[in-house]
Formats: sequence, structure tokens, C-alpha cells
Amino acid sequence: MIFPNPVRPGAGHPPPYLAGRTTEIKEFERLLGQPVILTNLVLTGLRGVGKTVLLEGALKSLARQHGWLWTGNELSEAINISEEKLAQRLITDLSVLTSQFEVDRQVIEGIGFQPQREERSVTFDHALMESLYRTTPGLVSDKIKAVLEATWQVVRQSGVQGIVLAYDEAQNLADRSDRDQYPLSLLLDVFQSIQKKGIPIMLVLTGLPTLFPKLVEARTFAERMFKVITLDKLDQHDRRDAIVRPISDSQCPVSFTPPAVDEIANRSGGYPYFIQFICYEMFEAYLGHSDGVPRPDVTVAHIARKLDSDFFSGRWNKVTDRQRELLAIIASLEAADDEFTVQEISEASRKLEGKPFSPSHVNQMLGALAEQGLIFKNRHGKYSFAVPMLADFIRRQSNETIR
Ligand SMILES: Nc1ncnc2c1ncn2[C@@H]1O[C@H](COP(=O)(O)OP(=O)(O)O)[C@@H](O)[C@H]1O
Ligand SMILES: [Mg+2]
Repeated sequence: MIFPNPVRPGAGHPPPYLAGRTTEIKEFERLLGQPVILTNLVLTGLRGVGKTVLLEGALKSLARQHGWLWTGNELSEAINISEEKLAQRLITDLSVLTSQFEVDRQVIEGIGFQPQREERSVTFDHALMESLYRTTPGLVSDKIKAVLEATWQVVRQSGVQGIVLAYDEAQNLADRSDRDQYPLSLLLDVFQSIQKKGIPIMLVLTGLPTLFPKLVEARTFAERMFKVITLDKLDQHDRRDAIVRPISDSQCPVSFTPPAVDEIANRSGGYPYFIQFICYEMFEAYLGHSDGVPRPDVTVAHIARKLDSDFFSGRWNKVTDRQRELLAIIASLEAADDEFTVQEISEASRKLEGKPFSPSHVNQMLGALAEQGLIFKNRHGKYSFAVPMLADFIRRQSNETIR
């Protein structure tokens, strides 16, 4: 029997076994228990840490078990274009839930020798929701509120607890004062208002660490409106589970020795995407070795180089030489994996040979690196790498150029 590789690394692909995340799941369960929604959820963390699979796997099914309806989508950058676009997004996603719900019956009288009366049910589908939106007077926010209220009136009869509206990649939401369009503020205003009225439609927003600062910048009340759950790397125990569980099937032709598991756990830094990447390649490498088990340290080191070229190099190749110098300085800081300041970087550059970076220069370059998605500024004005284990990669690059 062929035992297929159980691992499918890639953005949003459900893992063969979802390791850890029990506190995060409990926290969300607590939010589902709110009689009136005061707190919504922001689920945040670096790329590849497991936001999408937690949202689409565990959180969605938990909400459904608790009697909630769930709908939503992934937000593309195009959502920023207008408030109208956001409204259309909401209508499309909500109508998926409501199009089965009957709101009226229409009687159609037949004609002919034996006239027949036919009854047809009218459901709260996209067209009806759209026309409610269009005919409600007022601003876009008034129109969306009317749609949300009507949606709840329609679905509540089925005895559901509420509706979760989940948006992934929500860091793409932004107000655009240059275009006089404020979709992000609109979303926050509308939900605050309907939740005040006791309508149980909960927002779950998932995105990169820039998401929550953006929400608070748009509306300070967002601070109180959301519980922020930040996903981090998996601890040693959960890493083991993520590595070992998928191959624990007795039919599985591949097994990893304890040193191999340790090697994967350490090289991955505990980041789920890296675990999946390495495990996938390990499985393939071991399967190809019919004559005994290859040395895990050699295999994993080889796979880690493949990870460098597949995952990191594309990003690294886009930066200029001067930016690389700056990144190398940052990677040499003690707090490189945590957070760092303009001042710290500038000071470190003065201790090195070569042209130092002034604080204003650092500031400006960090801005450009943020645009490129390598760095982000957190709420307290400090910076972090936006890609997991980027500091390690940069240190490996600088070692190689020195040698
Ligand atoms: N808790 C976990 N246990 C095992 N694998 C995970 C876990 N979380 C995420 N993964 C895997 O890591 C990869 C990245 O997950 P994803 O949800 O796309 O990350 P994000 O949305 O944060 O960028 C996927 O291959 C996924 O299957
Ligand atoms: Mg994702």
C-alpha cells in the first residue's frame, strides 16, 4: 500500500494534526458565551504561524458546535477602494447564510380552465438583501445596519445563538482619506452600534501584527471592542505533536527517531509553516532511503538550506545593499527576535566600521522595509521583523559572505 505524504505545507492548508492552541481556543469559547457581545476577536501573528488554519478549522467548528452561524471571507487589498465595496462584501457573505430562510410566501394565481394556485416562498437571498440595502435611506452605515438587523431578525427564529463574521487578512482594511473613503472606520462604527442594540453578530478579524494598531488608529474604542489573541511559535511539547502525530499511523512507512524529532523541532524554531515544510521534505527523503535511515542532522540541515532558498531568498533578493547592511545590524542586536528601536540600531551601527546610520536615516529605511513586508512597527513605536526567523537567516547570509 502506498502511504501518501501526510503533510501539505502551504498557506491555509489544514495540517494533518493541529498542535497546541488550546488556550487560544478556550479564549474564543469564552467569547462565544457572552450574552451580549461586548468583545470581538482579533487573531494576529506573523505569516505562517497558523492563523488561517486555526480560524477555518478549530474556531469555525467550535462556533458551530455552540450554535452560532459562521460566514466570512478573505479580504483582498481591493477592499480599501470604497465603503460601497465593503458593503457588497458583507451582503454577499451574509446572504450565503440567509438565502435558505423564508421571509414571505407569494401566491401566484394560475389561469386557464382549471386555475391553480401556486405558492412560492420568498427567501432572504442576495437580491432581496441588496434591495433592502438600496432602499434604506441615509448613509452607507445606516444601510449596512439595516441589513445586519434584518439578517438577525430572519435567522434568530431558527434558534441560533448568533452569527460570527470572520475576515482573514484583515490588515488589508484601511481608511483612505485621500479618496474620502473610510471602510475600516465604517466597519467598526457599524458593529459597535448593532452590538449595543443587543444584536449578536460577532466580528472575528485575522491578520498580520499591523492589524490591531490599524484598528485603534481608526477608532480608539477598538481598544475595548476586541480581545487580541497573538499566535506565537509552538512550545517544545506542541512541536513534538505537530511532528510526530501525522506519522504515528501504524501503516506509515516512515518514523523519526528522537534525535530527528529534536532536530526538526529546533530548526523550525517552532514555527508551524517551517515544521510542515521540514516534515514534508523529511518524509520524502526518508522514503527514498530503503537502505536504512539517513542521518537526521545531515538531512535536516540540507532541508533547511532548501527552506532558505524557497522561503527567504525571494524576499532577500529584493533588498538593496545598503538595506542589507542595515538588516545585518538589526540581526546582530540582542533583541533581534523581539523588538528594537531606531536608537538601538543607529547606536549599533556606530560601533561598526563603515558609514554609520543616523537615526533619521534608520527611520526612513525602516519605513521602506515595512513597505516591503520585512519589518513592522508595533503599537509602542518599536519595530520587529515581520517574517519568522528572519534574523537567523540574515545572520547565516552575513556569515557566508564573510567566509
Ligand atoms: N497548530 C498547528 N499545528 C500544526 N501545523 C500547523 C499549525 N498551525 C499552522 N500549521 C501549518 O502551518 C502552515 C501555515 O499556516 P497558516 O494558517 O496558513 O498560517 P497564517 O495564516 O498565520 O499565515 C500550514 O501548512 C498549516 O497547516
Ligand atoms: Mg493566513
